[in-house]
Amino acid sequence: MNWEFNLPVKIIFGNKKRYGLKECIDEIGGTKGVLVCGKSFEKSGVANEFVEISNGKIAAIFSDVRPNPTTDNVDACVELMRTIGADFAVALGGGSPMDCCKAACAIARGHDSIKSYHSGGKKISEDEVIPMIAVATTSGTASEVTNISVLTDLEKNLKNPMNDPLMYPKTAIIDPELTLTVPKQITASTGLDVLAHAIESYWATIHQPICSACSVYACRLVFEWLEKAYNEPDNLEAREKMACASIIAGVAFSHPRTTGSHACSFPLTNIYNVPHGEACAFTLDYFLRFNAQNADENGRIQRLAEDCGFKDAFEMADEISAMKKRMGMKTTLSQIGCTTNEQIDELAHKSMSMLMTRNPIELKEEDIRDMYYSLR
Ligand SMILES: NC(=O)c1ccc[n+]([C@@H]2O[C@H](COP(=O)([O-])OP(=O)(O)OC[C@H]3O[C@@H](n4cnc5c(N)ncnc54)[C@H](O)[C@@H]3O)[C@@H](O)[C@H]2O)c1
Ligand SMILES: [Zn+2]
Repeated sequence: MNWEFNLPVKIIFGNKKRYGLKECIDEIGGTKGVLVCGKSFEKSGVANEFVEISNGKIAAIFSDVRPNPTTDNVDACVELMRTIGADFAVALGGGSPMDCCKAACAIARGHDSIKSYHSGGKKISEDEVIPMIAVATTSGTASEVTNISVLTDLEKNLKNPMNDPLMYPKTAIIDPELTLTVPKQITASTGLDVLAHAIESYWATIHQPICSACSVYACRLVFEWLEKAYNEPDNLEAREKMACASIIAGVAFSHPRTTGSHACSFPLTNIYNVPHGEACAFTLDYFLRFNAQNADENGRIQRLAEDCGFKDAFEMADEISAMKKRMGMKTTLSQIGCTTNEQIDELAHKSMSMLMTRNPIELKEEDIRDMYYSLR
């Protein structure tokens, strides 16, 4: 077995660590920066608090980022960076502001639109990049430790990840207190995204030992703490454990990436507007049963289930199904408005992206169609 592991992100974890932002900016040599966040943070005053903490080094705020950010959002963000001559950026948010900021930072010193890179095949170049600090506000995507940015090109109706070694944030600040305000449904959805990252990276065709160890650790935390965070939003210990699970799962999928459930999540989000984590969880229990039955190389999936306290992978899959229902997640295609055979065929077709090839057993479009028919 051959593998490499390199994660060039400084991770700072702990309650109130956001107050060390200025030192982080100094460390990367930032003098004039842009804060990229969602509109709600601008309205709630949290964005201004960050401007203050930065001691004036954050010179502008960009908040025109929609959930599942678009290439147009990135272009508008880049324009602001270029106009003020930003030499760093801080992303404050869930995956959406972080991915928007990450892509913008990657081309801030250049001249082109992100579309040339996202779908045009242009390579990220070192002399166009400015450094980024990521401050996570959801326990979910772990975009703060990956070099991935998932963007939607509305013209092409394409939601796709782009990645490059130059796209890692320099610093990730995970301050669990920031997640105390996350609403219940988003806590559930983002928490299930963590579980999908942990499980899918574990069985991905290019899994590797450091990442697999992180998968097990993160899965156990999710099973123990997600529903506590969901039922008791003010429970800081539960928020802290989920923030930890998120970052550890981020390390877990940083190299092996994800597989079938994430591949299916993209059209579920694009066509039916299912939030990212809920969309990943939609098929996660199905893939767990399917892979345990058909692709359990050396009993690894069975061992993951045992390490998480289950009798076997099927019991683990049943628990995921039950958790989804207890937390009000949608579990059938009819609930999301996908009812006709044509719609199911389209969903199966659009689920066949590159990530599907990372599933431990090869799956054809007919297999995915069968899966969706069983989820009607
Ligand atoms: N880069 C990666 O490696 C990676 C991995 C998985 C998913 N993603 C992408 O990330 C995006 C999803 O990110 P997400 O699930 O974090 O959701 P998000 O960033 O879209 O946020 C969801 C909602 O939660 C709100 N919110 C966020 N933090 C909050 C807080 N602390 N308090 C109150 N409200 C808060 C936001 O305003 C928004 O309305 C998708 O586009 C997905 O494809 C990226
Ligand atoms: Zn995800």
